[in-house]
Amino acid sequence: MTAWISVANARKEEAIAPRAEVRGWVRTRRDSKGGFSFIEVNDGSCFGNLQIVAPAELANYESEIQKLSAGCSIVATGELVASPAKGQATEMHATEVRVIGWADPETYPLQKKRHSFEKLREWAHLRPRTNTFGAVARVRNQISQSIHDFYHERGFLYVNTPIITASDCEGAGEMFRVTSLDLEMLAKKGGPVKYEYDFFQKPAYLTVSGQLNGETYATALGRIYTFGPTFRAENSNTSRHLAEFWMVEPEAAFFDLNDNMQLAEDFLKRIFTDCLNHCEEDMAFFDSMIEKGKVDQLKAVVEKPFTHMPYTEAISILESTTEKFDYPISWGTDLQAEHERFLTEKHVGGPVILTDYPSTIKPFYMRVSEDGKTVAAMDVLVPGVGEIIGGSQREERLDVLQSRMDEAGLNQDDYWWYIDTRKYGTVPHAGFGLGLERAVQYATGMANIRDVIPFPRTPGNADF
Ligand code: 4AD
Repeated sequence: MTAWISVANARKEEAIAPRAEVRGWVRTRRDSKGGFSFIEVNDGSCFGNLQIVAPAELANYESEIQKLSAGCSIVATGELVASPAKGQATEMHATEVRVIGWADPETYPLQKKRHSFEKLREWAHLRPRTNTFGAVARVRNQISQSIHDFYHERGFLYVNTPIITASDCEGAGEMFRVTSLDLEMLAKKGGPVKYEYDFFQKPAYLTVSGQLNGETYATALGRIYTFGPTFRAENSNTSRHLAEFWMVEPEAAFFDLNDNMQLAEDFLKRIFTDCLNHCEEDMAFFDSMIEKGKVDQLKAVVEKPFTHMPYTEAISILESTTEKFDYPISWGTDLQAEHERFLTEKHVGGPVILTDYPSTIKPFYMRVSEDGKTVAAMDVLVPGVGEIIGGSQREERLDVLQSRMDEAGLNQDDYWWYIDTRKYGTVPHAGFGLGLERAVQYATGMANIRDVIPFPRTPGNADF
């Protein structure tokens, strides 16, 4: 049996061996006049390809090897040798090239020419075969791994919160309804739809955030984090909004806003450091082809402390600049993408943690500050992407929480279980949510959030 080796390992100098087997997909084939074919093979294990040199003596050289084209799957066996060619340490001198699956060049959509990212979205099932989407998938995988590593090293327990819920954590009314009823059929029959007939016997939705459930575990187990899919029925067709995205939500008992900000900064720095250290080839690609200077930018971000700025200060900066904005800004209004970009890209030139927002524009669970007007909120904004993290210290005082719920028009009976955490052994606590896709966007420089998740869900798009 010949030992299988990944392309990533086969490309290393130490892989040199008399016999090895690689399995993958052809990227290109070039035939030399000297009676050889050079086949570039990629198997997804790394950005680069392995060059397979197939001599004309192989039994299937004319019948198969000379017909190989982009997308064909092959298994190649041979000797791994030091390569005389520039830019690669090794190459394989094949003694056998078995074709596993053909890809008709007449119909295979991923030909050599570069396709726009818009076009590739129509082939979401094939785009992972391209250089860009392979690199995005590996960086996304690295970030997911770093998330688990970071929290486990700090003693945070991974908790799974429900996807189906009755509560609207953010209070923005952007929830997808979940029902077992055949609404079309019921509409045809006419008459009111009764909740009693529905599966949960009350309105149920896809979760917008695992936070409220996460808090119940943090106020029992100390430090926890959730990491899973979340859903928003917000009709925003922008380059940073998805209807289905992944969120990491740490929550820690006995944490205040300062602890929370420090955790968020350490966390982001860890993610970006890991991308730089473990995805070097992919990051070099993003740096040269997607956003020039990305690597140096991330290196600077992980070295310098983040800028902290209260919301009130941000507003006075935005009000006093000569920069023209489409949306007017004044104390009490929420920041738009253009304001976030101005602050991070032009004013600070790096990440900013904005704190102490007016209570009127933030959800009921955020802790009301001494001034009675602001809450202990924090948003982390980064250049190019804008808000990447949203979080806060939570309102741990029962009476204040209840009056905030009343102000928000929430029915306390629906949140009796959440209120219990404040009734019994309440503690100061804090947490935040990081949108995984926005983190991947920032790490890679990819302009559109639809290109950093395998199968994006946006208004009008739920194919594949
Ligand atoms: O600021 P958000 O809405 O905060 C929460 O959901 C809190 N409950 C989190 C917490 O404190 N545990 O969302 C948090 C982050 C945003 O900063 C952004 O990165 C991402 O989630 N996000 C989205 N990402 C993609 N598409 C959307 N529609 C997003 N909405 C939020």
